[in-house]
Amino acid sequence: MKALVYHGPGKRGWEEKPKPTIKNSTDAIIRITKTTLCGTDLHIMKGDVPEVVDGLILGHEGIGVVEEVGSAVSNFKVGNKVLISCITSCGICDACKIGMYSHCETGGWILGHLIDGTQAEYVRIPHADTSLYHIPVGVDEEAIVMLSDILPTGFECGVLKGQIKPGDNVAIVGAGPIGLATLLTAQFYSPAEIIMIDLDDNRLKVAKTFGATKLVAENAVEEIMKLTNGKGVDVAIEAVGTSATFNICQSIIAAGGHIANIGVHGKSVELHLEKLWSSNITITTRLVDTVTIPMLLKTVLSGKLRPEKLITHRFALNEIMKAYDTFGNAAEEKTLKVILSN
Ligand SMILES: NC(=O)c1ccc[n+]([C@@H]2O[C@H](COP(=O)([O-])OP(=O)(O)OC[C@H]3O[C@@H](n4cnc5c(N)ncnc54)[C@H](O)[C@@H]3O)[C@@H](O)[C@H]2O)c1
Ligand SMILES: [Zn+2]
Ligand SMILES: [Zn+2]
Repeated sequence: MKALVYHGPGKRGWEEKPKPTIKNSTDAIIRITKTTLCGTDLHIMKGDVPEVVDGLILGHEGIGVVEEVGSAVSNFKVGNKVLISCITSCGICDACKIGMYSHCETGGWILGHLIDGTQAEYVRIPHADTSLYHIPVGVDEEAIVMLSDILPTGFECGVLKGQIKPGDNVAIVGAGPIGLATLLTAQFYSPAEIIMIDLDDNRLKVAKTFGATKLVAENAVEEIMKLTNGKGVDVAIEAVGTSATFNICQSIIAAGGHIANIGVHGKSVELHLEKLWSSNITITTRLVDTVTIPMLLKTVLSGKLRPEKLITHRFALNEIMKAYDTFGNAAEEKTLKVILSN
């Protein structure tokens, strides 16, 4: 089969690899029909995720058709259409039993990280019964691809951790795919204002069409304090992963507010407890668990959530090398999410 293979920082190829086979009785082999690229894949390509080894197939998102199942798989049959979660979960370890699949003792984020991933014609999914989801008939399959990672991430790490309530003033720092997924799912709770902050004008324009009530580009702290009459926001969501953007969140949080960090931070950030100690705030972090996939699937099916709006570019799976170039040049190409079909 063909697959997108990582060969160390800056090096990748669309290459021939052996088709995966069942290793454990709980595995399934999926024929990939649609997959996508994630900002995390770009981090890997830069060498920011050193545990990814030379020769690994990348990708942790996608949908496909069950090709083969191990003897212990009971919930899926050959021919079923399935959504692949970016997080693999056994369902029975201590972490899985409290819904913290990201910390599964024999799973977590392993696809396209520690084991071969989904940017290929076939992928092996461990713990198939608890890591795959049936795709309902009649649903937009491109929309469903957005549920492997970015929608649950924005919702779980941003909206749920930020405890958004009706009437809240919310600020989302970063209007990339994750920030925009947070913007879409924040609206389940009817906040009064959702202020989107980004340096990229095109992404801010997109945010406006997705329901942002205010847009901020420059001088974020000053602008937001003005917009909130000097009070700050009830919920500040960090969807970038830099010290500059975490600082914005610390500077705009109202008394009693919640700072929800989503961004992956490669460097330390300064925490200004000398200002915040008396503000009754909470700061949360989370690695996506994807426990909300079943709920999000229902909202897509009912038309309440339209994640297909995030898709800007489409390619055939065998054009993935070109897709990486387009995705890596997001500002000029105006890329959000790409769909690769096979
Ligand atoms: N916690 C999790 O489980 C989890 C899961 C997936 C992704 N992530 C992380 O979420 C973050 C966002 O992902 P993405 O794919 O949307 O990334 P992205 O790079 O596409 O988007 C980041 C956005 O932030 C903007 N930005 C950068 N610096 C800024 C600044 N100083 N002020 C305002 N805006 C600024 C950029 O213009 C860009 O639009 C990444 O750090 C990613 O690794 C976390
Ligand atoms: Zn991802
Ligand atoms: Zn587990």
